[in-house]
Amino acid sequence: MELIFEKSREGRSSAILPPCDVPVVSLPQELSRKRRARLPNIDENSLSRHYSALESRSFGVNNGFYPLGSCTMKYNPKLGDEAAALPGFTSLHPLQEPGTLRGCLKVFDMLSRYLCPITGMDAFSFQPAAGAQGELTGLLMIKAYHESRGEAGRVNIIIPDSAHGTNPASASMAGFTVINIKSGADGRIDLETLKSVTDSTTAGIMLTNPNTLGLFETGILEITEIVHKAGGLCYYDGANLNAVAGLFRPGDMGFDVMHINLHKTFATPHGGGGPGSGPAGCKKILSEFLPSYGFEKDCGEGKSIGRVHGFYGNFLVAVRALAYLLMLGRDGVADMAGNAVLNANYLLAKLKGAYPAASQGFCMHEFVLSAETLKEKYGVSALDIAKGLEDCGIHPPTVYFPLIVHEALMLEPTETESRETLDAAADMFLSLAQKAGEDAASLRGAPFSAAVSRPDEVKAARRPLLRYEWK
Ligand SMILES: Cc1ncc(COP(=O)(O)O)c(C=O)c1O
Repeated sequence: MELIFEKSREGRSSAILPPCDVPVVSLPQELSRKRRARLPNIDENSLSRHYSALESRSFGVNNGFYPLGSCTMKYNPKLGDEAAALPGFTSLHPLQEPGTLRGCLKVFDMLSRYLCPITGMDAFSFQPAAGAQGELTGLLMIKAYHESRGEAGRVNIIIPDSAHGTNPASASMAGFTVINIKSGADGRIDLETLKSVTDSTTAGIMLTNPNTLGLFETGILEITEIVHKAGGLCYYDGANLNAVAGLFRPGDMGFDVMHINLHKTFATPHGGGGPGSGPAGCKKILSEFLPSYGFEKDCGEGKSIGRVHGFYGNFLVAVRALAYLLMLGRDGVADMAGNAVLNANYLLAKLKGAYPAASQGFCMHEFVLSAETLKEKYGVSALDIAKGLEDCGIHPPTVYFPLIVHEALMLEPTETESRETLDAAADMFLSLAQKAGEDAASLRGAPFSAAVSRPDEVKAARRPLLRYEWK
């Protein structure tokens, strides 16, 4: 497909600008361009077709089933976008006097009032722009807490191997040493292993719950007690809150600090690089360390870890989350979680005969299958199945994650899919498993319908070509 620069023709334009209504000011020479910006000149028709063509090469939740495990690609009600598009919200400037931002402050305040009782935390900061940044924020708060008590020697953060990949990265960015512990045979934390690594150097534990195998950690009260007894704090990775919201509160289970991925749990588009929002919440003992530029009542100036984001965070994501919560209401939050878990177990039950499950029993909102048997028997890998699904009009699940499962296929159907969609998707997965035995070669060549078949993913990630090279 031609790039927009290649479609450019001198003199064409689609801009219809109003007359300039402010004084024209010349910039100092050192700040001015030496030559005109080389922007594409293109008529409106071609411009509109160009972007429609690009859109048709992409796949989103509006195109079909999108069971991308760990990423929660659920349907986002259009009402959220309507709320976020209200001119009163979109025409604000971050440098406005706070006195003129009362409506926005109210949005944060209302959202906090919902999130605190849902999570059992006492305060939230909406500055973090993503889940991983929420983790970093929480960890910096843990660090500040220990330092304020003269316990700077607490330098270790315990993280199980079933944690989300961002957990060890955030702990290391916060200056901690990561103590990785192996999961037990059931895919959950082994309490004896945990005890053996917990001591006076323990700053805390990070627990992804449900974990990346889609399992609820059954020994949570024991886990938090072991860590607290050793003087550490407990961090809850709440990115998967859509599995437990309204049913279980991290704050009641001994967690001191956590983050939520608003863009996963509370319906706001996820993907394409954001914007997202990963509010950090905490119990009273940590609230004085929250980022300083928030509206949380308990947010203290003196001991705060400072800012983690310019201004107020990704405000419009908070607006969408609030709209979703208001739509759901109190009972709706628990229904959301219940349906996420029900849908996942329904699909798991249909698929585990053809693709062995990575763990036994019920799952929470997501589950992990393995294509290892298909690979051994027919040479068809998890990637081949994923690519085959593209030809069936289904977005592939997450593949090769979590790392502890060979040929992993991680599915998260989400609460917003109907039984008919799940049945149709299960039929596709099963037909591909059958095809692996009958026509493995064609699966290894899939997809045949996608705009791009099998790109060199490593090269695309390491050496992306993001600049047009003018001739
Ligand atoms: C369990 C878990 N923790 C953390 C994250 C990181 O969130 P983000 O991608 O917004 O940084 C994710 C992302 O999906 C996640 O699933």
